[in-house]
Amino acid sequence: MKLEKYYVPEKAELKLDGKVYELPVMVGEEGEKAIDISRLRSMTGCITLDYGYMNTGSCASAITYLDGDKGILSYRGYSIEDLAEKCTFVEVAYLLVHGALPTETELKGFSGMLNKYSLLHEDMVHFFDRFPPGSPPMSILSSMVNALAVFYPDMISNPIENIDKMSARLISKVRTIAAFSYKKAMGQPLVYPRHDYSYCANFLNMMFHSSVDPYEVNPIVVDALNKLLILHGDHEQNCSTSTVRLVGSAHVNLYASISAGISALWGPLHGGANQAVIEMLERIHLEGGNYRKYIEKAKDANDPFRLVGFGHRVYKNHDPRARIIKKACDDVLQALKIEDPLLDLAKEIEEVALTDSYFVERRLYPNVDFYSGIIYKAIGIPTDMFTVMFALGRLPGWIAHWKEMWDDDNWKIGRPRQIYVGPVARPFVPMEERSL
Ligand code: SDX
Repeated sequence: MKLEKYYVPEKAELKLDGKVYELPVMVGEEGEKAIDISRLRSMTGCITLDYGYMNTGSCASAITYLDGDKGILSYRGYSIEDLAEKCTFVEVAYLLVHGALPTETELKGFSGMLNKYSLLHEDMVHFFDRFPPGSPPMSILSSMVNALAVFYPDMISNPIENIDKMSARLISKVRTIAAFSYKKAMGQPLVYPRHDYSYCANFLNMMFHSSVDPYEVNPIVVDALNKLLILHGDHEQNCSTSTVRLVGSAHVNLYASISAGISALWGPLHGGANQAVIEMLERIHLEGGNYRKYIEKAKDANDPFRLVGFGHRVYKNHDPRARIIKKACDDVLQALKIEDPLLDLAKEIEEVALTDSYFVERRLYPNVDFYSGIIYKAIGIPTDMFTVMFALGRLPGWIAHWKEMWDDDNWKIGRPRQIYVGPVARPFVPMEERSL
């Protein structure tokens, strides 16, 4: 990735220890500015400190752009609104990984690979027999994805040469792992992938079909699932994607890097929020719907409760994905003739929160997780698999970032610095002199 053209004549000046240092300034394709501090320590002897990397860029990337103030999100230059409306998830997965929307031929080839790689090695299928009942689906997913490196070691030696195969293998097998883990949890026979079903139809069939209760694929549900997976496709340097990059930067194989990303996504502050939102709404509903009590709890600095599904590190305006999902909620529930009181409750909470000074001052809006669970629930996905669905959608984005990093000649192993605040120069204390 050649970055020279993004440097501008303007310099940033840093005054320190009576000296003035000049630091290069970059401007990205959408006008975002960065001060390049890659030589800061060699010039000044100083490092920067930035908890949570709130002001720190880890890389230049050509995959996703988001503008938190304007509520804009695009993948490879295409708006999320266009992609969610006009594409299938497989097309968007191809776009994220390869950088361009596929031609008919390319799409046919990619779909063919997804079909070819949709089975799991039968020895891997036996792993499901050993996970105890009630095992968290995200733990199973992370373990099984890591185990792919055991069953497909050939892909590890020349990662970039095999990236197309590894991408298709992962995108297809993760879907199978998710569905198999559900069937095992239900104590039902596994349903294997079909060559004549699309990506989303296959997943739904593997999840909900059984020999005594055949599953009829509903195009409305397939469309809703495509949309949800597309909307979760990528989101620049979020926690789990940064995890995939950091782990991958040590030359770790793609499967293990993705497994680490799945673990990061599991957190309730990150991808685990979609499950926590439904659990929060169900609790409020069970208590009689008094959501104002929970809004007050969320505002109380002494109360650890947060209004899950609200707030975002980058979006200080509406999350464009939440807007699309909220509309899709109405469409899907109406089409499926489902009345879900949790949707009405969510809308009431949003309406009240968006006029409350606490949320307005902190620019807290519904994020991607606030409404997504309503649709997953309507489709029949169990709550403890909502974050697995997030991972299914985010997988192409993780792969795209891992590949971009491998291809980037600016890449270095990730190794942040620190400021030390511990004890200094302590004389050694022999065991006999150590008091309790
Ligand atoms: C995702 O990064 C990504 O792109 C992530 C993601 C993706 O696609 O990958 O978009 C997916 O992770 C969405 C976020 C899902 N998480 C939640 O919904 C959990 C609830 N939200 C919060 O925990 C919080 O908003 C975060 C974690 C999302 C963002 O936290 P930040 O940026 O570190 O902000 P902060 O915690 O410093 O909050 C700033 C202020 C604080 O108040 P003050 O100390 O200034 O008084 O806002 C308050 C916070 O207390 N605040 C909330 C709140 N979120 C922030 N108060 C109540 N409820 C909330 N949800």
